[in-house]
Amino acid sequence: MIALGIETSCDETALSLIEADLALTHADNLRESAFAPARIRVLSDKTLSQIELHKPFGGVFPMMAKREHSRSLIPLLKSVLQEAGRTDPRFSRSAAVAGLGMIHDSGIEKPAPHVSTHQLTNIQTILKREPELLKDFLTYIPTCERPPIDVIAVTEGPGLEPCLWTGINFAKALSAIWNIPVVPVNHMEGHIFSALLRRENTKTSTFSFLPVTFPALALLISGGHTELVFIRDRFDYRIVGETRDDAVGEAFDKVARLLGLPYPGGPEISTLAERARTDAHGTLTDTGNISLPRPMIHSVDFDFSFSGLKTAVLYLLKKIGGPNEKTRLLIAREFEDAVTEVLIAKTKKALETFGAKTLLIGGGVIANTHIRRSFEALATKMGIPLHIPEPCLTTDNALMIAVAGFMRSSTKDGSVRPYPQELAAKGNMRVDEN
Ligand code: KG4
Ligand code: ZN
Repeated sequence: MIALGIETSCDETALSLIEADLALTHADNLRESAFAPARIRVLSDKTLSQIELHKPFGGVFPMMAKREHSRSLIPLLKSVLQEAGRTDPRFSRSAAVAGLGMIHDSGIEKPAPHVSTHQLTNIQTILKREPELLKDFLTYIPTCERPPIDVIAVTEGPGLEPCLWTGINFAKALSAIWNIPVVPVNHMEGHIFSALLRRENTKTSTFSFLPVTFPALALLISGGHTELVFIRDRFDYRIVGETRDDAVGEAFDKVARLLGLPYPGGPEISTLAERARTDAHGTLTDTGNISLPRPMIHSVDFDFSFSGLKTAVLYLLKKIGGPNEKTRLLIAREFEDAVTEVLIAKTKKALETFGAKTLLIGGGVIANTHIRRSFEALATKMGIPLHIPEPCLTTDNALMIAVAGFMRSSTKDGSVRPYPQELAAKGNMRVDEN
């Protein structure tokens, strides 16, 4: 099955084209081997990050992000089809843009070769809120032969609703013109799946899917989410713990701002904290009065709270003044320690309480070296398999969406399971809502 993944939930515009197949032996025995396609060949996978655009504002502006998605989707699709066409003859014809430009901005006077008048009207309706995307769509798509895609997977939530709508409307428009079914994907399930993708070797872009022993526990840590998800069986999720206020990535970003560091703050704090940890001259051993709380570390539930930690940093800075170079390093390390200790304590308790046999971690924050190392140590100590995505798959990407779409829509006989409902953006969608 060939799947096109579309991801526009936040500040990354991403498209991924994969060819994936269920291994029949596994498919016959899905309960033991979990989500079980044999192989996923990446034909093209591209992400355009908007970080530089949002940097001056210290965070993501939804309407600006939406406009950027609108502008980026067609150039990105073009580039994905062209890349696929370079190695796969099935795509070379759709990739070869004729450049006929048969459709004019204003309308339908000159029908293009691969579009009926009815389809055109339909697309104009679907993309009426995305004028830039509509213009690009009508210029490019009619010149391009229908690619051999079996299913379009698109993020339906959670995320910023204006951004989600752009991806969804794009998927609908492609579906209308190429007659390809669309399957909606939960972004958080995508993050879970990203932990299970293993590159077959460093030179190829073919991945296999790791088998999972159920029940499993997933820790999802990103800019918008911090949650512990109990996975009883395939597609059977229950959120057992979540943040009551800020997500962990959000806390990194806010504390970084207090320390005068640029957005996104996670990688900045991580770099400073690592420097403090490897302080060769021992100049940072005296931490003075730099200490931060470990919020909710002993609470009886599995919930988190990180906004108090940010406030504690604010008060600390008021008390000690600054920050200067040394206190910045010390605060970065102390903050990272506080976050890590809470994440470890809660995850360990959840693993024990729910008898989970596998731990999966996904989301942008698992790019953090110290957090990664700490979870590796925990897993070794508990003798539990730990699956973490490879670094390029920790942040938002469309490969995980394409894979989730494939998993959701594939059947044993290789046909696409249709999705019956009307597609809509679901900003607050939960992973246990499916
Ligand atoms: O998953 P992601 O790319 O997007 C969301 O869905 O939110 O996560 C982005 C978050 C940001 O808050 C960013 O600061 C954080 O992940 N992040 C990190 C690191 N790299 C990215 N946090 C801590 N340490 C890092 N190395
Ligand atoms: Zn994400």
